[in-house]
Amino acid sequence: MMKTLCLYYSRTNTTKDIMEAIANHIGADIAEYTDGKDRSGFFGYIGACFASVNNTINNVYIKGEIDLDEYDRVIIGMPVWVECPCVIGKALIKKYCDKMPSKVYFLVTHMGKNDYMTKIKAMDNLLLKPSSGQFSIKTKDNDYIKESIEYANTID
Ligand SMILES: Cc1cc2nc3c(=O)[nH]c(=O)nc-3n(C[C@H](O)[C@H](O)[C@H](O)COP(=O)(O)O)c2cc1C
Repeated sequence: MMKTLCLYYSRTNTTKDIMEAIANHIGADIAEYTDGKDRSGFFGYIGACFASVNNTINNVYIKGEIDLDEYDRVIIGMPVWVECPCVIGKALIKKYCDKMPSKVYFLVTHMGKNDYMTKIKAMDNLLLKPSSGQFSIKTKDNDYIKESIEYANTID
């Protein structure tokens, strides 16, 4: 059986809820990654906008004792910030690209109805290899947990 790790960054717990649902469904481990900054509330939102525009994320790390070598596949979840997969997720991919298993999947959450598939796929440039799957999930007015489980059923 494939050993899978679900990684997520989440400012307001939507991506967290999705990744937890997927991890429960497929029997994966789960861990949070962060740059350690408190981005809650209005000022956190403004800080996230600035970080996105300036692309200034340092020191992203995975919480807990996680050894990426133990996993056959990783699903990386992140929200969209300012029309792009969030800079913290991109920083994670860049930092850990050489430690990622052969199968890496991207899952990106967003409020708007337009998907971000082109920009999600472009993160392959940070991963330095083709990702195994990409998923863009609308969180507003959508049963996003159900859609996420359906997606989880398609990954190989
Ligand atoms: C700083 C910031 C910028 C955002 N920009 C967009 C955007 O450009 N397009 C969009 O559809 N949603 C945007 N969103 C909404 C989030 O992507 C969406 O609510 C996401 O599901 C939140 O995930 P989270 O609860 O895990 O943080 C933005 C949210 C934040 C905080």
